[in-house]
Amino acid sequence: MVLFSLVASLLAAYAVAAPAADIVPRLDSAEGALLQTGEGRHGGFFYSFWSDHYAPKSSDVGPILYRNLEGGRYKVQWGEGTGNFVAGKGWNSTDADKRRSVTYSGTFSATGTSYLSLYGWMKTTSTKLNVEYYIIDDWIKYHPGQGDKIVGTIETDGGVYDIHIGNRWAQGMEPSWRRIFSVRREKRTAGTITAEKHFAAWKALGQTFDRHMYSVLAVEGYHSTGEADVTVLDYQSA
Ligand SMILES: *[C@@H]1O[C@H](CO)[C@@H](O)[C@H](O)[C@H]1NC(C)=O
Repeated sequence: MVLFSLVASLLAAYAVAAPAADIVPRLDSAEGALLQTGEGRHGGFFYSFWSDHYAPKSSDVGPILYRNLEGGRYKVQWGEGTGNFVAGKGWNSTDADKRRSVTYSGTFSATGTSYLSLYGWMKTTSTKLNVEYYIIDDWIKYHPGQGDKIVGTIETDGGVYDIHIGNRWAQGMEPSWRRIFSVRREKRTAGTITAEKHFAAWKALGQTFDRHMYSVLAVEGYHSTGEADVTVLDYQSA
């Protein structure tokens, strides 16, 4: 589901693939185990690691190295040959509806298209279009809302975010899902994201969604190379 929709959206969003760069991931074998793509619980958080390429076995040095570290911390390093991946820690539908803000800090550097965002999916029963959302605090080269025009702005958490909304098509004439982006003008890699303010602003723009499937403070890369070390410090209930 996520795999197919992300691939389709990227095909739609990128006319030209980003050139490969040359960061080679360093393997710090002393730190947590490398993971295959998948999801689960670690350090008290839900985590999700998705890739359209492949994830290495723990004994391999592959292009995407993802590790769950203590608590809300994770580390991802990606090298040449990386396709598209999204990885991070947060929460899923078991508890998501109560989680309305997140505080995080991290380091994030990359040589091509990549973003640091609060990323999630919401079920929408009324319009049938589920919502894939990004609250983007930092991005490099290209951000995924760029193909959709700005329909509003929101000022929160010490910054201004531009809101982009667009549909995506997996196949055929009918849209398959909706994507909503809040993109921060003053980039940062630490702070609090008061997600409920974004949800309220999106609703005021006529968007509907009924419940969360999951939400992660995520690093995404698209044919780029880079590394990130991110810690989700806290999340607050509404
Ligand atoms: C939330 O994620 C955990 C870990 O993957 C999983 O066991 C659980 O079933 C998920 N909850 C829901 C409601 O999907």
